[in-house]
Amino acid sequence: MSDKINIPSIDNHHGDVFKLTHLLDEAIAKNSREAFGPIIEFLSIHCVNHFNEEEELMRTMNFPDLKSHEIEHQRFTNKIKQIKKMYDENLHTTHIAYGIRQLIDAMIFHVQHIDIKMKGLKNE
Ligand SMILES: [Fe+2]
Ligand SMILES: [Fe+2]
Repeated sequence: MSDKINIPSIDNHHGDVFKLTHLLDEAIAKNSREAFGPIIEFLSIHCVNHFNEEEELMRTMNFPDLKSHEIEHQRFTNKIKQIKKMYDENLHTTHIAYGIRQLIDAMIFHVQHIDIKMKGLKNE
């Protein structure tokens, strides 16, 4: 099954989320707090921007159930803020790694089951 929607900018962003799985594995293997920094920065900046860009695009496509989609994006954004807070407050990396893993798994599921519905929809 292809995860591609055939909108290059969105597909690139989603590809980056899949890559985060490996970055997270590497950070855990390094077992250093600093290794999680770039992942958290990526989530805080690029993922949050992606949600906005995607919602903007979906509005032009009459994407079905956009409201619940936005709510799910908001849930991810809240989770990202929570993880960043844990990191800033110096919580044990085990908790941070676990939080990031859950988030990435949920975002990958989201891409494969919900964002994928953009495929075939046209801009109006
Ligand atoms: Fe997305
Ligand atoms: Fe989405």
